[in-house]
Amino acid sequence: MNKAITKICCIGAGYVGGPTMAVIAQKCPHIKVTVVDLNQARIDAWNDPNTENIPVYEPGLAEVVAEARGRNLFFSTQVDEAIADAEMIFISVNTPTKTYGTGKGMAADLKYIELCARQIARVSKTDKIVVEKSTLPVRTAEAVKSILQNTGNNVQFQILSNPEFLAEGTAVEDLHAPDRILIGGDTTEEGQIAIQALVDVYANWVPKERILTTNLWSSELSKLTANAFLAQRVSSINALSELCEHTGADISEVSRSIGTDSRIGPKFLNASVGFGGSCFQKDILNLVYIARSYGLTQVADYWEQVIIMNDHQKRRFATKIVKTLYNTISGKKIAFLGWAFKKDTNDTRESAAIYVADDLLNEQATIAVYDPKVAEDQILGDLNYLETRKAEKNAELVDVYEDAYACCKGAHAIAVMTEWDEFKTYDWQRIYDNMIKPAFLFDGRNVVNKKALTEIGFKVYSIGK
Ligand code: UDX
Ligand code: ADP
Repeated sequence: MNKAITKICCIGAGYVGGPTMAVIAQKCPHIKVTVVDLNQARIDAWNDPNTENIPVYEPGLAEVVAEARGRNLFFSTQVDEAIADAEMIFISVNTPTKTYGTGKGMAADLKYIELCARQIARVSKTDKIVVEKSTLPVRTAEAVKSILQNTGNNVQFQILSNPEFLAEGTAVEDLHAPDRILIGGDTTEEGQIAIQALVDVYANWVPKERILTTNLWSSELSKLTANAFLAQRVSSINALSELCEHTGADISEVSRSIGTDSRIGPKFLNASVGFGGSCFQKDILNLVYIARSYGLTQVADYWEQVIIMNDHQKRRFATKIVKTLYNTISGKKIAFLGWAFKKDTNDTRESAAIYVADDLLNEQATIAVYDPKVAEDQILGDLNYLETRKAEKNAELVDVYEDAYACCKGAHAIAVMTEWDEFKTYDWQRIYDNMIKPAFLFDGRNVVNKKALTEIGFKVYSIGK
């Protein structure tokens, strides 16, 4: 097992697996990288001759795929064949929060991971290094190991944890120049050899001092901890944004002032309508669940507060809209600019827009949505997933536009939900002229020029001001 890796397989062609493997293939032309997924439509999209149509939107990703695809990067639904062929297998499948049974709403649902482990055990005929790429609760590696070692046929498996720290919207940048690569493995000799094999893959483009190695459990917990710390900063600043609205302080000024303290640093201090994305909430819930399962009530309560604050921030924004519009929005058109959970991605998982829209729909508003990268079926799917009302009702009350000006036409209010750069370039006078007066704008991201818009005539609400 101590020879250099030449064949990698990645199970799961999603927001993590796709970009990560594309960059490994780009940087390591001598390694054959095969990304497999059960979802035929997704694989077909990754193989679309026009790389602009790949299923994950990330700046720069289409170019990376164009460079490596067909050379040493392949996308396929032939999962068994790819596993059998590879020396190293990354597991990058989804691990959503459980929606049933014990740990419902808190624990990670590991059924996809377990299925992968069983599949690897079933088809492997040669020794494999299995790498956990999905974010997982601490000690998942142990479960994977147990399945592999008890069902495999005399094949040796080494399990590594290699959490991915890329942020969506900057995935390619983050993968090209990561702050660090973290690799956890067994402290045995075989474990160390496996770690080295993966270190050697990353060392093709990542400076050695940025590749950290730890034991398995530290690596798994570090990923949850990093996300919990980042989310905590957002909830902390969001908590203070509400205080600012009552005291006359300005949250942007507070963020700037504290961010210059080198111990605090300036990042992740932007007040917003609430954090979203596939990781923050899920990982903190995992942390809370694990802490509770060990009886650590104070630890669990401490981290749970980050989620409670985030839910409060989303609801508070929706309530602000209703109250400002004279306590009734029934039949009023509210235009949403942005649906993605942050700019430069087409991912909408846990996006604040979904929850704010749901609250407004409960008040019988009609919602118009424009997002540069998110399509109508995704938006309706997100709302239907909440099961708050019938799908037909959502389809009746929600209209999706391909043009921001048409979206805002005839609206009583605009809600800016994502910080897309293009929103700053709009002809706001033209938008204003076509709205019902008074024309309200609720800036959930503090991105519009409040002064200029107020001069046009908008009644602007910004978070924390
Ligand atoms: C996060 C982690 O940053 C990344 O390391 C990990 O691998 C996955 O989870 P991601 O969810 O893609 O990445 O995006 P991130 O930039 O962290 O933003 C998460 C959410 O927080 C977004 O909704 C964003 O808008 C929000 N946010 C972020 C704020 O509201 N304010 C901020 O100052 C920063
Ligand atoms: P992430 O953001 O973690 O990448 P995604 O949901 O975007 O998560 O992607 C996970 C992918 O894993 C999905 O495309 C899903 O179809 C795929 N997947 C889940 N289970 C399996 C499996 N057993 N074999 C192959 N692919 C799988």
